[in-house]
Amino acid sequence: MDSVSKRIVVLPGDGIGPEVCSEAVRVLKAVGDRFGHEFHFDYQLMGACAIDAVGTPLPDVTLEACRQADAVLLGAIGDPKYDNDPTAKVRPEQGLLGLRKSLGLYANIRPITAYDQLLEHSPLKVERIQGTDILIFRELTGGIYFGEKGRSEDRASAYDHCTYHRDEILRIAHLAFKAAETRRHKLTLVDKANVLETSRLWRETVQSIAPQYPSVALDYLFVDNAAMQIILNPRQFDVMLTENMFGDIISDEASVIAGSLGLLPSASIGDGSALFEPIHGSYPQAKGKGIANPIATILSAAMLLDHFGLIEEADCVRDAVQHALNEGVVTPELSPVVVHTTEQVGSFIAYAVLDIADCELHRNNIRLGMSTII
Ligand code: IPM
Ligand code: MN
Repeated sequence: MDSVSKRIVVLPGDGIGPEVCSEAVRVLKAVGDRFGHEFHFDYQLMGACAIDAVGTPLPDVTLEACRQADAVLLGAIGDPKYDNDPTAKVRPEQGLLGLRKSLGLYANIRPITAYDQLLEHSPLKVERIQGTDILIFRELTGGIYFGEKGRSEDRASAYDHCTYHRDEILRIAHLAFKAAETRRHKLTLVDKANVLETSRLWRETVQSIAPQYPSVALDYLFVDNAAMQIILNPRQFDVMLTENMFGDIISDEASVIAGSLGLLPSASIGDGSALFEPIHGSYPQAKGKGIANPIATILSAAMLLDHFGLIEEADCVRDAVQHALNEGVVTPELSPVVVHTTEQVGSFIAYAVLDIADCELHRNNIRLGMSTII
């Protein structure tokens, strides 16, 4: 691949967001060095940190920078001081929802992989989860998240409307079918078509384009059953497609298969820019302690490279992550005995991107308590 020059907006956000973002940026810089690409990083505020600094979770300058960028890398947002206050008018989450909507990021793609080295870390039985490889397509800019919402005059009742238009379903369904064509040729639509009219529209619409993808076997599951099947027999799934709210729930559930929420990346794409972020939240209890797992954000950076068409580079990052897992260079939730910090895991992976052999030397340095070079 010829060398490229790209502008990446980084939104470190709140809690452990800045720590995990630093490591992903370190890895992207290593990719730039190794493959001769130029990545320009532009740091902007979003989330609780933006509320604290300028009074709004998604400042105009941040949105404008994201619009102009080739891609956006996000750490995490959220702060407990807003979670327990149902009357709070301004919330960090509004920043993320506003960004998704404004950038038109209608498809959220969440890969769920059971890593062989980590099977024992899942609370689920190894023989059930081994070999799991699911790609979840979650619709991200419609449904109940964005429908009309409100309260009655006496405030004693409330509503959230769930609406979908056929076109909103079509655009993500095509992406999901295309992904299934490059994988194991199976697509499962998750809905609640026995109860909800929006779900019946999803079924009808997805069914109507299925003939365009004759190599893909399409099946359907009600979301309650899907929630059970993900735990009982996750290997049965290849690509799963679902609406916003169901996707939010089943993707957190499926993350249990991977053994740590700290491993799971995601990409949110639309017709223009794209956003890459770990599935986990801001984990405020861990802030500043150096225990946050940076791998989910680093793998999100790999998805960002895929998005740029830098496939070899993205594979190199994924190989480097595998190498860290093989060597047990992982944060405490995965290895309480031999403890590595967020920064040590990130720099080990960055070294592995530059040169797997070289990172052996680096690992010895970590053992000896020496500081890292990158
Ligand atoms: C996610 C999160 C968000 C969502 C929150 C923070 C608004 O849970 O990305 O899954 O519900 O979409
Ligand atoms: Mn969620």
